[in-house]
Amino acid sequence: MDTTGSLFLPPGSSTISSEFDALFYFLVYASIVFLGIVVFSIVLFSLRYRKRGVEETPTPGISHSTKLEITWSIVPTILVMIVFVWGFRIYMKMNVVPRDAMEIKVTGQKWFWTFDYPEGANTLNELVVPAGKPVKLLMSSRDVIHSFFVPDFRIKMDVLPNRYTVTWFEAPEIGEHNLFCTEFCGKGHSEMIGRVRVVSEREYAEWLETSGAGGEELPPDQYGAALFVAKACNTCHSVEGKRLVGPALNGVFGKPVMLTGGGEATVDENYVRESILEPQASIVAGYEPVMPTYQGILKDRQIDALIAYIKSLK
Ligand code: CUA
Repeated sequence: MDTTGSLFLPPGSSTISSEFDALFYFLVYASIVFLGIVVFSIVLFSLRYRKRGVEETPTPGISHSTKLEITWSIVPTILVMIVFVWGFRIYMKMNVVPRDAMEIKVTGQKWFWTFDYPEGANTLNELVVPAGKPVKLLMSSRDVIHSFFVPDFRIKMDVLPNRYTVTWFEAPEIGEHNLFCTEFCGKGHSEMIGRVRVVSEREYAEWLETSGAGGEELPPDQYGAALFVAKACNTCHSVEGKRLVGPALNGVFGKPVMLTGGGEATVDENYVRESILEPQASIVAGYEPVMPTYQGILKDRQIDALIAYIKSLK
């Protein structure tokens, strides 16, 4: 495993990455060698066969050169076959999920990732996995096409609505890795980022026990503040008055807002709750109906905490 990265590739952190990189660099260096040969020949022939101004004897008709033709057929064929067999073997390894892999459900939607673990936990924008265990990702989208990309693991797979796609990885070492959406999916595409946290098996078991309970011992508004970031609300809602994809949430509680299609609503507990569970019901005028529902993602206690947090924002 390479942990430093290079000009072309970030550090490799999965069981497949060193094989992947070897083939990648073979292609890069082979291309450089052939580029050199071609450029050298162009320069050499241009100099050697340039017009010199004197009458020269014309070249007699050349029909062909068997030796040359065989060489330029056999050498590329061998090279292409090497790349084919080598690439096919890696491709199969990347696409055949080991039997003992644990399965995590990945859901992409505008503009965040949700992960559902076999033990019942779920997380947003953070995938937590044990080190040294193969992990199968079963992926689908709630809206448009997204694409799941972890450069350090050398895995990238489209995430589609109405269809499941699968990829897998095994990260042998503890660490943190970037996760990107790599299919343009609208306004918030560049914000659709997360991370993969690889922890020891013991830490993973501990995390499973406490996940979902994390922060519940805090006062409601502080728990809400933590959820606001953990559940990616801050991707679309500023708490400093800035207009993002959605309206800013500071100083709005208790005030009236104009709604799309006319009418007015007061931002109270019921309005906030409705906006989280049925975002399309009453949209603030001037904004697009793009918020996804958090039905089934947030528990009642978490919604209460978010309301308490929004209430506290001045
Ligand atoms: Cu999701 Cu780009």
